Amino acid sequence: MTASDTHTPTSVQEPNEFGYRGYTLGEFQFSRDEYFAYVTWPTGRHVMSVDAFLRAMQRDVAWEFFYGIVNFDGVLGTMNHYGTVDLFAGRYNDAFRKAELDHVETIDTATIRDVFAAMLADWTNASFDPFASPEETGSAFGPKKGENIAAITRHRVTAERMVSLPGDEPLRDDGNGHPVNRMFADVSQDEPEIYAEPGFENEVGSFSLFAYLSRSPVTWNPSVVSVCRDSLYCPTTEEYILPIIHGNDRAEWFVQLSDEIIWDVEDRDTGRKRAKVIMKAGDVAAMPSDIRHQGYSPKRSMLLVWENASLAIPELISSGKFPTQPVEF
Ligand code: PHB
Ligand code: FE
Repeated sequence: MTASDTHTPTSVQEPNEFGYRGYTLGEFQFSRDEYFAYVTWPTGRHVMSVDAFLRAMQRDVAWEFFYGIVNFDGVLGTMNHYGTVDLFAGRYNDAFRKAELDHVETIDTATIRDVFAAMLADWTNASFDPFASPEETGSAFGPKKGENIAAITRHRVTAERMVSLPGDEPLRDDGNGHPVNRMFADVSQDEPEIYAEPGFENEVGSFSLFAYLSRSPVTWNPSVVSVCRDSLYCPTTEEYILPIIHGNDRAEWFVQLSDEIIWDVEDRDTGRKRAKVIMKAGDVAAMPSDIRHQGYSPKRSMLLVWENASLAIPELISSGKFPTQPVEF
């Protein structure tokens, strides 16, 4: 199917008694009240706390549906086919599948992105920042009160070569609105000294990744800080819970740069428990391509996510030409 073949009907309803609009995407219907987001489809219905729903929705929108599957929870989510997106309920949930109550709509990326972005904007009150840690934001709850467009449309850092190089993503400092986070007050702010040979000033660069991350205002939001062909370094600062359960379509390497994250690892397609991984500073893990995972970070921590962005990988894995694990021990 090509990207323009799906023609999913969409509609937006008038605000309800709490001030929030309802949204229809194919046979899915979304609505919210003071505490909850509700989703219905022909064979079922689902409810989520609206703060968790908006945190997941924020990432799905900002990351253009990410790699593979973004599960909002064990029922609702999206699967990226890079041009179209599957919006599903119960598709990766053994009980829904066995009862034949799951539902999937395949939607052009632009169509689902626009509806999700409109819903996120309408349902996010002025007091709530879906990218912030719970300690650093106000409430998502209550009747509609203002909006927070600046927070939900933040610039996403995607370096072309590397942060700090001429013309590329700039370093962060107090002056450009990036104070050191309260939990990283002890992180050195020293920058390396660079002595490039004359003529190579544009080719040689270096920056302190720890200082850079200590000034990140957001959580669970990998930034592309360096690029070598398909190899992307995507570090991020984490606090509280990863708001999605990520179903991989490729292996991912994790390097725990500081503090500690606890990972729940489940079978990607059924949700069966596979592992609990406790990563302490310095630990490295290879997450296989047939799992889904969700992280818990008790203190703000620094995590390096290393991705290979090649569009060929999902097919190489699903056809069995690539192993699901990137390394054998
Ligand atoms: C992941 O799914 O691998 C992931 C997503 C966001 C993060 C960290 C890891 O902040
Ligand atoms: Fe992941």
